[in-house]
Amino acid sequence: MINVTNLVKVFPSRKGLLGRDAVVALRGVSFAIPDGGAISFIGESGSGKTTIGRILAGLETPSAGEIWWDDVNITALPQRQRLRFLRKVQLIQQDPYQALNPARTIEQALKDPLTVIAREQHKGPQWVQQRINEVLQMVGIEPVSVLDKYPHMLSGGQRQRIVIARALTVEPKVLVADEAVSMIDVSLRLGVLKLLRDLRDQFGISLFFITHDVAAARYVGQDGQLFVIYKGMIIESGQTDEVITHPYHPYTQALLSAVPVLKGLEIPGPDRYIPLRADEDGEIQETVCLYEPRCPFAQDQCRQTRPLLQGDGHDHACHFPTVRRVVATARPEKP
Ligand SMILES: Nc1ncnc2c1ncn2[C@@H]1O[C@H](COP(=O)(O)OP(=O)(O)OP(=O)(O)O)[C@@H](O)[C@H]1O
Ligand SMILES: [Mg+2]
Repeated sequence: MINVTNLVKVFPSRKGLLGRDAVVALRGVSFAIPDGGAISFIGESGSGKTTIGRILAGLETPSAGEIWWDDVNITALPQRQRLRFLRKVQLIQQDPYQALNPARTIEQALKDPLTVIAREQHKGPQWVQQRINEVLQMVGIEPVSVLDKYPHMLSGGQRQRIVIARALTVEPKVLVADEAVSMIDVSLRLGVLKLLRDLRDQFGISLFFITHDVAAARYVGQDGQLFVIYKGMIIESGQTDEVITHPYHPYTQALLSAVPVLKGLEIPGPDRYIPLRADEDGEIQETVCLYEPRCPFAQDQCRQTRPLLQGDGHDHACHFPTVRRVVATARPEKP
């Protein structure tokens, strides 16, 4: 189990860039990733999703907050020990083409990390070859069909499978999938989502799933938790289906009514559509509700105190939570 508490990330101002102040990307985010479980984060662009993923994978350091692996506070460990934990978190990014070196064959791409591991574990070249075959089979690719190919010779779906295979070389405990299928041809997306789900079922690899598509979150992590993040703050969280079918927060409702959804998750009617107003990008007042400037239901209290995330498992940060159901309960189609 990974427990993250009160994660804060402040990026220093980019000097010279219109004198902009520091960016507060995360404002105290807490969540847990159960062993073999899946949790999903949804939120609009710039809400801080990637920043969380990068911190989990050790590519960014938090400004405050703690990350616990079982009973070890890894944020308190010296860097070398911390990295040993963080290596077990592998990041799968949006663009598999960018993640692979175009000048190296698939065999070489997989051999590189495995050679390092072989050296550490005193294993021979035969072991490396065997592991290459194993990780390719784990992602549903016949090794002989790709070993001597270059990334550009594969489809987007296959390329993302290779990136996942490469992540599997270190026997990860967690895969952070950051919009991992959004650049893949629509017809191949479900296959990659199914792969992520199968890796969880068969090998107990946990998933930290970042997406704009609630149907995808539901497909890979229906039994897990869904977190809705706005300006670096979780504003609603709970069991995935519960949040999707009974959203309390106006922002969640707006997101659910605006995102494109897979067949089977249709929006019931136009009267349920809640407009997601454009962000004014004004100065954030840390004492008021972050969503207040855009909220069609805001009242005086929202301009006076910030609502904190609270509830009994289905939590929300809203002074006037009202369930407005915007998404049908039908299951997405199975591939
Ligand atoms: N290296 C950085 N330096 C300065 N600001 C950054 C940096 N990385 C991210 N940010 C800022 O932090 C905020 C959160 O960014 P992040 O990339 O985590 O959002 P996101 O939710 O992943 O968005 P998207 O859906 O577009 O991928 C944004 O305001 C972004 O501009
Ligand atoms: Mg992102």
